[in-house]
Order: sequence, then structure tokens, then C-alpha cells
Amino acid sequence: MKLLLINGPNLNLLGLREPATYGHATLAEVERAAAAEAARMGAELAPWQSNHEGAIVERIHAAHTEGVAGIVINAGAYTHTSIAIRDALAATALPFVEVHISNVHAREPFRHRSYLSAMAAGIVVGFGVDGYRLAVQGLVRRLSAG
Ligand code: DQA
Repeated sequence: MKLLLINGPNLNLLGLREPATYGHATLAEVERAAAAEAARMGAELAPWQSNHEGAIVERIHAAHTEGVAGIVINAGAYTHTSIAIRDALAATALPFVEVHISNVHAREPFRHRSYLSAMAAGIVVGFGVDGYRLAVQGLVRRLSAG
């Protein structure tokens, strides 16, 4: 079972970026932990990050043709703005879990709306970087259940 982990804008700065909100783990550490969790569950996870909306759209399209079974995505700020990323997920109909490190609902009102949530298989919000591991678990279980 092939999974794709997509991290969106500014998540390459994890560890440096607002550590009180996002913690001290780096993106590389987060990606390793998510891949290890996938492997533990018998799946294979490929991590990928971009700061560019169109690149994320194209990565989602490619996932579809590569036979990826499901996606874990933290679209960062694009969560709250990107109809294009939503449409890419809808177009490919790939099951996905939306992750946010912080509890977006306890933050500014502009973070309360997600263009992705209504189509997500599940959402993990506010558990820090542990959310990625939880999302992988949930996604593999969902995909295994058919
Ligand atoms: C985030 C929350 C977003 O509002 C923010 O723009 C991010 C990170 C999170 O993981 O908590 O970049 O998605």
C-alpha cells in the first residue's frame, strides 16, 4: 500500500518556525516518524513538501497515476485558501487525511475554515507533530477496511 505525505508552505521550516505553536521537531524528523509508522503498519509512505500551490496540485495528480492509495496532507495556509488543491483531491478521488499540528480552531478565525475538510476521510488537529503518525494509522486502517 503506497501512501503519500504532502506538506505545504512553510512546513519546511518546522523546528525553526514559531516553536511555541509548531514544536521543535524538524520536517525531516516528522517525515521519518510518519514513514516508520507506515512501515510498521505494512505500508510505504513517500514524503514530499512544497511551498507552491500549483506544484501541490500537480503532485496530487501524479499520485493518482502512480497508484498511491491515499494521502496524508498538511496543506498549511493553503488549507484556508486553496480551491485548486481541494479540486485536485476531488478530481483524483484519493482518500486523504487532513493534518494540522496546531489546533486551528483555537487560533485566528481565518484558520477556522478549511476547503479540504468536507472531503477528508478524517482530520487530525492539535496533537502537535504526533498528528502525522495518528493520521497514517487512521488512513491505513481506513484503506484496509476498504
Ligand atoms: C497548520 C495551520 C495553518 O493555519 C498554518 O497556516 C500552517 C500550519 C498546522 O499544521 O497547524 O502553516 O496547517
